[in-house]
Amino acid sequence: MTPFELSWAGGTAERHFRARRKRQQVDDFPWDAVDLAAYRPEVIEAAQASWTEGAFFEYCSGATFAAVARALLEAGAPIDLVGMVGDFVADEMLHVELNARMAMAFGGAAPRLVDLSDLVPACTPGLSPFHTAVELALRIGVAEALTVPILAEVSRASRHPLTHAVLAKLARDEGPHAALGLLVLEWADDRLTEADRARLAVAAEASMVSYRVDRARVAAQHVPMEIAQEMSDAGFAVPERYVATLDRAMEQRVWDPLSAFGIFPPPPCSCETPGMRPKKIGENA
Ligand SMILES: [Fe+2]
Ligand SMILES: [Fe+2]
Repeated sequence: MTPFELSWAGGTAERHFRARRKRQQVDDFPWDAVDLAAYRPEVIEAAQASWTEGAFFEYCSGATFAAVARALLEAGAPIDLVGMVGDFVADEMLHVELNARMAMAFGGAAPRLVDLSDLVPACTPGLSPFHTAVELALRIGVAEALTVPILAEVSRASRHPLTHAVLAKLARDEGPHAALGLLVLEWADDRLTEADRARLAVAAEASMVSYRVDRARVAAQHVPMEIAQEMSDAGFAVPERYVATLDRAMEQRVWDPLSAFGIFPPPPCSCETPGMRPKKIGENA
């Protein structure tokens, strides 16, 4: 049993916690603007699958933020930090809606089987709530940090008003999500041992595994010039831009900031922990 005590982190967490959730104006997006006659059938089919997959990955993100919030609560974390993470769950539910509506705009969702009992990345077994909170926050923070610049890139490339609006909205929301891992590390820093930091490096790398898989897949793609804009308008990344953006994000948005906490890339082949659920951000997010 421990005393009932509260604390306050201030700064970014406080601002998010205090910000009143504004009514999201997503109903004003031009949901009827997709002219299916302007797309090849294979692009439409791929878009349906991709946006459907995106909706499920957003659902997984919501579940992961909920798990982080619970672990932070059990670890006695600052209440505004917990409140901010709770807010992110609601963001992700909005993103589920946006992805689902995009699939519908492209003619309907693609059939997909999911396991709702397996939504959250696996943590190192046997950790305390404190260490679970830090590891899970880092796992989702890394994934978000890689997703943000990809979303921004695809949003810029899309000339379609609906696709552009949805991707821009997602990119705006994911920015604060991407900061979570570092905010939790700031809170936890003076309680982390060298062994903890080494374990967190492996966890960060585990979150990048699916992105590396996607990078290899996308790098091998060749999109003919004549359909490149059509693909961008449906929400797909241009392969060369995707690869360059992801490479830059891994260095500048993941390892550079983590190195300030003594968390460095682990030696090759030490990333055996289960990866973050594959997130095919090369297609959309
Ligand atoms: Fe999201
Ligand atoms: Fe997110």
